[in-house]
Amino acid sequence: MEQACAIVLAAGDGKRMRSARPKVLCEVLFRPMICWISDTLGECGIQDVCAVLGAGADLVRQAVPQFSWVEQKERLGTGHAVMQARAFLESHRGGDCAVLCGDAPFMDADTLKNAYLLHKKEGAAVTLVSAWLDNPTGYGRIVRDEKGDVSSIVEQADADEETLRIREINAGTYWFSVDFLLDALNRLRADNAQGEYYLTDVIGIAAAQGRRVCGYQAADSRVAMGANDRKGLLRLNEMARQAELERHLDAGVEIVCADGVVIAPGVSIGQDTTILPGTILKGKTIIGKNCVIGPDTVIEDSTVGDGCQINACQIEKSRLDEKIKIGPFTHVRPNSHLKAGVKIGNFVEVKNSVIDENTAVAHLTYVGDSDVGKNVNFGCGTVTVNFDGHDKYRTVIGDDCFIGCNSNLIAPVEIGSGSYIAAGSTITDRVPEDALAVARARQVVKPGWAKARRLRLGPRKK
Ligand code: UD1
Ligand code: CA
Repeated sequence: MEQACAIVLAAGDGKRMRSARPKVLCEVLFRPMICWISDTLGECGIQDVCAVLGAGADLVRQAVPQFSWVEQKERLGTGHAVMQARAFLESHRGGDCAVLCGDAPFMDADTLKNAYLLHKKEGAAVTLVSAWLDNPTGYGRIVRDEKGDVSSIVEQADADEETLRIREINAGTYWFSVDFLLDALNRLRADNAQGEYYLTDVIGIAAAQGRRVCGYQAADSRVAMGANDRKGLLRLNEMARQAELERHLDAGVEIVCADGVVIAPGVSIGQDTTILPGTILKGKTIIGKNCVIGPDTVIEDSTVGDGCQINACQIEKSRLDEKIKIGPFTHVRPNSHLKAGVKIGNFVEVKNSVIDENTAVAHLTYVGDSDVGKNVNFGCGTVTVNFDGHDKYRTVIGDDCFIGCNSNLIAPVEIGSGSYIAAGSTITDRVPEDALAVARARQVVKPGWAKARRLRLGPRKK
């Protein structure tokens, strides 16, 4: 199969989607549809792939940089799209080429491989993937002859009533003998209801020539599902979401109520972890065992160790070790590393920082560009002042420090291990180990001042 090549049809615009982006960039579980196809091709070991692109080609190329590409200037149908890849096909004469639709993301590696095995075994000119749908509206129907062999595909717009009743549909994925396909493309005509060059007519051409046409019936009809508009896209998202939830449930993850729980493919979650409503897990995210995640939490491209509790938090591109408790309302921004036993509480933001074991940052605090030691206690409302309006600087805090409430640590600054910062201090200079730093004006008390003022001004106005 490594010898085989593929063409991905992706020149569709976002018109029916009402999107400024090309259709194939519309996302299912946060991943552009064309990337689902590229994952499947990658899993099959098919490396030589040509995408047929239209408007917005640059954006699609960024999503699938490993594909070569050709441009289809006018959208004259799926057959016309494949014609644009003639040079690509010429360079693969003697071999086989898969053709896939960029807007049908659930075509999977097993289906594509099994269809290929059938195609080779039967020495077919073309093998198409078909599926049975309860509601086949909109799809091309598979017409079989009295022996049960595929004789043609008829599009919805061209079908008579009897054909419309057929529930076996064209999934839009095919294997072609390249030599046959190159010849058949020359024979396509746009004499149909939509005035387009249909790739599906190639099947009728093969059958008429007495060439072997195989239909591989997919075990799961989801492989055929495509999205032409936003409603279709929501249906795909819902199907993919449900499938992902079931994968995790089968692996021992607890989901009490799945409302608003969206887990992207590729996320891994350990046994006996509970996912609560409103939790979104995306990117390269790994969650350990025995965690409680959510409610209302977003974790992206991050690793979370065993036994963590994360309640109403946002975490991006960061690493959390074991038994960490964070939230509610904590924001962990990129490049942060929280070590075992750390506690982060209400309205705390951490960015680009390392916080060592068992340190507590419980309330209303900003820790940015900082290296914080073990067993440090932050009082409420501490700010590491990392930015002078021009450059950013680091704050270094040793082990066992106590940072009093409402302190500003003006970076670059170093707080030695075991030291105390008095509440309300603005620290600008290094604090040595085991010291107390007080950096605020000394309190002045004027006895009787308030009473004298009251007598002078009379009763307070309401
Ligand atoms: C197509 C098939 C239909 C099948 C269905 C499966 C044809 C004629 N019909 O119908 O039998 O059941 O897919 O999803 O092939 N594209 C181009 N250039 C074009 C036209 C389309 O690149 O000129 C691309 C689209 O971006 C899309 C794919 O080809 O990714 C399929 O095109 P679309 O218009 O969605 O075809 P369907 O009507 O869904
Ligand atoms: Ca389609």
